[in-house]
Parts: sequence; C-alpha cells; structure tokens
Amino acid sequence: MTLPGSPFLAYRGQDLFLDDVRLRDLTQQHGTPLYVYSKRAMLAALAPYQKALQGRAHLVCYAVKANSNLAVLQTFAQAGCGFDIVSEGELARVLAAGGSASKVVFSGVGKTRSEMATALKAGVKCFNVESTAELEVLSQVASGLGQTAHISLRVNPDVDAGTHPYISTGLKGNKFGVAHEEALATYKRAAALPGIHVAGIDCHIGSQITEIAPYLDALDRVLDLVESIEAAGITVHHMDLGGGLGITYTDETPPGADELIAQLLAKIDARGHGQREILFEPGRSLVGNAGVLLTEVMFLKPGSQKNFCVVDAAMNDLMRPALYEAYMGIVNTQLRTDAPATWDVVGPVCESGDWLGRDRSLTVQAGDVLAVLSAGAYGMTMSSNYNTRGRAAELMVDGATVHVIRSRETVQDLIRHDHLLPN
Ligand code: LLP
Repeated sequence: MTLPGSPFLAYRGQDLFLDDVRLRDLTQQHGTPLYVYSKRAMLAALAPYQKALQGRAHLVCYAVKANSNLAVLQTFAQAGCGFDIVSEGELARVLAAGGSASKVVFSGVGKTRSEMATALKAGVKCFNVESTAELEVLSQVASGLGQTAHISLRVNPDVDAGTHPYISTGLKGNKFGVAHEEALATYKRAAALPGIHVAGIDCHIGSQITEIAPYLDALDRVLDLVESIEAAGITVHHMDLGGGLGITYTDETPPGADELIAQLLAKIDARGHGQREILFEPGRSLVGNAGVLLTEVMFLKPGSQKNFCVVDAAMNDLMRPALYEAYMGIVNTQLRTDAPATWDVVGPVCESGDWLGRDRSLTVQAGDVLAVLSAGAYGMTMSSNYNTRGRAAELMVDGATVHVIRSRETVQDLIRHDHLLPN
C-alpha cells in the first residue's frame, strides 16, 4: 500500500517503510520524536525541475528555510542546486554544506547591514531586494566595501495564489516586494545607484500553490515589467519565478514541476524572452513529502466528547497544525487489524493548541509509533524549545542505509546560554 505524496513511503506487509528501512526499527535505536528523510525522495522531487529546464540557462535555488539540515543542503548542492537564503545563518549553513555562494540568492524584507556585508564578501549571486529603502542601504554597504551588489527587485504582482493567508505573499496587502506600479521607478533608481548592478527580476507569490493559473498571471505581469525596464535601457539578465509549488498532504492535486515549468517556458518563449536565465526557489515541493516525523503513543485517553491519543511529539516539534491548522497525515507505522476509533492526536505541551491531528481514524495502542506525514518541509526548521523540550534528532535514509544527520538536543544544550544572576 502506498500513501499519498511519496512513492518512497509504503507499507510492506504490516510495517511502514521509508526507502528500504522499517521505520519502527529506527525508533528503537534513535528514540522519538524523530525526523526521518529519504535522500532518494528528495532527488526524485528535484528531477522534474532539472529535466524541464534542461537545455536553457537556469538555476534551481533550493529554499533553505524549508529544511536547513546540512545533509539536506549537501544533497542539493551535490545535485547542482543553488540556494535561496533569508539570513546570514542560512548562508553559513549553505557554505558549511559545500554549497557555492555564487549560486545563492538572498531574499527577505529585513536584511541587516551586517548580513549584506557578509553576503557581499562571500560573493552571492544576487540580492532579491524588497524595498527602495533596502536598495539605498545595500548601495551604501556595497560602496563602502568597494564591491558591487548584483540585485533583482522582488516585484509584487498582486495576484491571488489561492492559498492560506499566512503563506500567500503576492498580494498588495502583503509586506513582500515592491508594488508593481513602483517597480519601474525603483529599477531606474537602482541603475543609478553606486555599488548596485541590476541582474534580474524576482517574484514569489506564495506557498502551497496547487494551480498553474496564478503563476501564469504573475509571469505575464513580470514580463510586462521586464519589457518596460528594458525599454528604459536597463538589462534584465535573469528572471527568478520564486517557489511555492504545493504538495499532496491529503487530497490536493498540485501540478508536477515539469508541467508547471513547461507552461511557464511556453509563455516566456511565446513572448520572446527565451534567452533569459530562469531561476526557481522551490522549498516544500523538494522536501515536504520526503520526510516523516515519528512519535510514540504514550497514553490513550478516551472521553465522553473526545478521545485523546497523547504522543511524545508536540507543537514545538511540528508547529504547522497549531499555527495554520494545517492538515498533516498521521498513520500507524505498524498496521493493526482491529476496528479504528476517532482520535485527536495531541502532544504533551501545556496548550490546547498543541495538537498534531484532529478527528483521525486510527487503530492505536500505547507504545505504537505513529508517523506524521509530509513533515520534511517546515517541520524541524520551525521547531522550538518551548516547555524546555530538546529538538528531535534527524535521520537520512538512502536505500537501506541510515545516517544520523542531527543528534537529539540535550537539556544541557538548552540551558547552556542562560546565566544566573550574581548572588
Ligand atoms: N522563496 C521565497 C522568497 C519564499 O518566501 C519562500 C517561502 C520560498 C521561496 C519557498 O516556498 P515553497 O516552495 O517552500 O512554498 N511555514 C509555511 C510556509 C512558509 C513559506 C515562506 N516562504 C508552512 O509551513 O506552510
């Protein structure tokens, strides 16, 4: 039996396997909560991007925020990817993982001067600038260092990506990007500023997008702008079309990356822009369904109104359900034959918002190991130490081989940075 989302995750007999590894076995050695990712699933998710872009100048910049473990970054660096970063911390991770700064684009509305300087010294490919104010500061920082910052403006095309309000970014009411009407004037300003070289244009309209239409609308708006920018004598070398492609959590049917890109390229070519380098910044679609979060069932609390299945993973380990009311699949790693009951799967954190799944039909017993599906993206990277809970360990499987790619945090790790007052 195959589960939604990934062909790499399937039951063999009664047991859930990721690649060739029986997931339950991992928890005996490595404990729970435990993130487990498949290297093969990540590379398989990347393949349609690379295939669709073959034969033209392009760069797939993996969005580090989705999953920033060094081994994940190493996997994508070795596969030829660049990276989309939003902090100097993420830049440091990329470099530590063997990624090349010359393939890094630096996004984000609030880059500090220190971050700008660090990225300039490292030699990043491009700053995705989000405001005129940022542009002026970047010009000062670059000039001060005797360097030139290659930039693209992140333009806000004002299209509705049809996704959750917290993860939709291309609307006028969002904090992101330069308004479409102001873009041309801002490009002219950029072209005149010292220490700034216009390299491209950038656009990212949101996340977990399951339709092609919003991308095509945004692209039309971007191409209109490119034409007016070039008519003003400013060359636009590359077009960065952002990330945002959705995945199947339950019954969503997002297009494949190959289909999305084919349609985008067809429009780009039809409008005579085929010579430009094309960048994408996918995060979730490369890693989301390549990972699961394993958690042990501690106690069952049947009740008159609700049945609670208390597990040892919590909102600090996986915030998406608490923060967005996001649905994430939950299955038992060992199929049981008795009739299922309806459970709210909740964690030990002292908040009513601490749930991982509501009204789930499951056959469970205390001691079982559940797998929260599609947890490879925005799982570990959004985790916290709330309730002084150490962060989970992370494993990467590759066929039948298992690698520990992050050790479990200890209490000592957590209190190390605190300081007592003098007596
Ligand atoms: N580029 C930029 C500028 C972004 O802001 C993002 C995501 C991406 C690329 C990658 O988008 P993706 O391909 O992963 O959709 N924490 C939320 C998602 C926030 C996305 C923020 N920006 C969640 O768990 O659903």
